[in-house]
Formats: sequence, structure tokens, C-alpha cells
Amino acid sequence: MMLFSQPSITELEDRYVIDAMHTSRLSGDGKYTKRVYEIFRQRFGVEDMLLTTSGTAALELAALLIGLEPGDEVIAPSFTFSSTINAFLLRGARPVFCDIRQDTFNIDEEKIEALITPKTKAIYCVNYAGVSCEMDRINEIADRHGLFVVEDAAQSVGSTYKGKPSGTLSELGCYSFHETKNYVMGEGGAIVLNEKKYIERAEMIREKGTDRSKLLRGMVDKYTWRDIGSSYLPSDILAAMLTAQLERFDEIMEKRMRIWDFYQESLKQAEEQEKLRQPIVPGHVTHNGHMYNILLPSERARIWLGDELRELGIPAYICYVPLHSSPMGRKLGYVPEDCPITEDLGNRILRLPLSAMLTEAEAAEVTERICELLPKMPV
Ligand SMILES: Cc1ncc(COP(=O)(O)O)c(C=O)c1O
Repeated sequence: MMLFSQPSITELEDRYVIDAMHTSRLSGDGKYTKRVYEIFRQRFGVEDMLLTTSGTAALELAALLIGLEPGDEVIAPSFTFSSTINAFLLRGARPVFCDIRQDTFNIDEEKIEALITPKTKAIYCVNYAGVSCEMDRINEIADRHGLFVVEDAAQSVGSTYKGKPSGTLSELGCYSFHETKNYVMGEGGAIVLNEKKYIERAEMIREKGTDRSKLLRGMVDKYTWRDIGSSYLPSDILAAMLTAQLERFDEIMEKRMRIWDFYQESLKQAEEQEKLRQPIVPGHVTHNGHMYNILLPSERARIWLGDELRELGIPAYICYVPLHSSPMGRKLGYVPEDCPITEDLGNRILRLPLSAMLTEAEAAEVTERICELLPKMPV
């Protein structure tokens, strides 16, 4: 059976996980967590990061670090996962939804400034499908208005923007290593601390508001409660799994990219015939093959094609359901017309199966079936 997404697990993951269970610190921050940091340091130049229990936890930690509180406003796309918004909604801050770009489906940086009010405190931007937002422009707007920028890089581990790694492009970056992402640890994530001033407090918030991490480094002889915090520290068993995944970084990336490139090549003709639109990746961005989406001419066409493909055993699904018009978005006072491009594109995107485990024969089946179905597609 063809799977929409499936992690690639080998004997290396098995070996490290078993080793961690017997020889590492089960409650976290053991030798495998350190190995993860070392890999990110060597590969991406990331100096300071902390593994967290999820990408969601990393986003929440960011909201705590920048001191969001009731009355604050945060500008964010509606075309994202609920966690991006929940992270600051939990602090009492209000989301101000910004529409997306037609090409990358990322926040439209040229629409941000009009949404800024005296209450605006931060911008949470999301690298949809592993493609970076226009970070130079976003950071420039933020600097001019004194706003924080949090980069939700949950989907973009391994991507770059103008040669710089995703997650390092603003003061705080958040990764996800959830089972559905490129590199997995089951449930897990990380916060990248691109400014030194955040490190001490981030360590405390992650450790239930205590300075336990200092005790572990031998810097204090007892630890105590110093701040608010939560339990955002993942077990070293999970870090062991992630270590193996990251040691297989290139292999996993190559496999995903091969499928992504194959889809791009095989559906070129369908795009030329204006049956669908393929993903657009700006020239100054490299992506990580996280997702392959096609944009169909109408919602009707997207529903029809998705249903037909699933009937044939090919898992293809809608991506994000826009948040501003979701039941929670409406409770917050938003209506579909608030982000018309998000509303339109969100309903027309179909996501195809993609993982390092998908075979080339399966990918060929996906595109062959799509090409057979397209002439019959209602628009
Ligand atoms: C853009 C985005 N942000 C945050 C998350 C949450 O990550 P996690 O599932 O690791 O909590 C996801 C997960 O799908 C996501 O796609």
C-alpha cells in the first residue's frame, strides 16, 4: 500500500536508540542530544539550539522568550498549522492574519506593514513546504518597527535562503522533528537561539523554570525555581533516533529530492497545458523536498482529483485548512474575506505522497494516474 508519508528507519536508528536506553541520560540532555547539536553546528553553523518535545513546544518557548502577553498583536499567516498561532494565543496575544503570496504560499511580506499597529509585538513567519519566506524584507520591516521575528522552520530543516540555513534567519527559529517531517524523532523539535541573550532563559523555561541545566554543567551545586517554565526537554532516547537520522542527512535529502524532481519533470506537460500549477521555488532559495503540491484550477477540481486518486489507492490530500476561516478563527472574529488569497489557494492545493521511502515506481504511478485523470477533471 502506498503511504502518504513514512519515516525511513534503519539499523542505525535501532542501534542508537538501544544504546541510549542503556548508556545515556534517559530524561534528556545526554550524549545524543549533544551529538545533535554538534551536527547542526558543523553542518549549518548553528551555535545555540535546544531540543524540545515538539515543534509546537519550540514555538511556545519562543513566545515565552519574547515576552508576549495579553493585549499584544502578532502578525502571522493563516495558511499554517494551528501550532504557529496557538503558541502565542496561549500567552494571550492576538493573531493578526496576513494573506499569502500567490507563488510560494508564504506570508506576503508586502502586506505586513499595513497590519502593524501600536500593539504589534512580533511577526511569526512560516516556511511553507520547506521554502523560505522573504526574510530580508521581513527582518527589515521588523527592525524599523521594533518587532520580534520568529521563523517557523518546522518544515524547512535543510533549506536555505540566500545561502543561509533555515532556522537561522531571525532571532529565533523553530524546527519540527515530528514523524511527518524530513528528519524524525517521533515527536520532537528544536529552538534555534540566534542571539546569545536568549540562552540562559530558554534553558530555564525548558527545564520547568529551574536552573537545572547549570547544575548538570557543574556550575551550581543545587538547582532552584527561578522563572516560569514547562517540560520542553525530550528524552535522550528520542535524541538518539534523531542523531541517526541526521547522520543520514544527505541520503534522506537525496531520496526526497529525487521524488520531488521526478514529480516536477513528469507534470511539466500538464502545467504547460494549464491543467495545474507546479510548485514555484525562488532562485535565491533552496528547498528540502519536504512537500510536493499541485495547484488546481478550482476547489471542485481539487476535491474531484483527490477523491479519484484515493480511490485508486494513491494518498493525496488537501494541505492546511486556512486558520482564519476555521471554527477557531471565526471565534476570534475573522471571516473568510479577511485573507482572500489564502482562502482561494488553500482550497485548490493538493498534496501528493512524498517521503524517503516512496519508490520511484510509486512516484511514477502517481504522475501517470494524474495525467490520465486530468483530461476528465471538472473545472
Ligand atoms: C508550520 C508548522 N509549524 C509547527 C508545526 C508543529 O510541529 P510539531 O508537530 O513538531 O509540534 C507543524 C507541524 O506540522 C508545522 O507544519
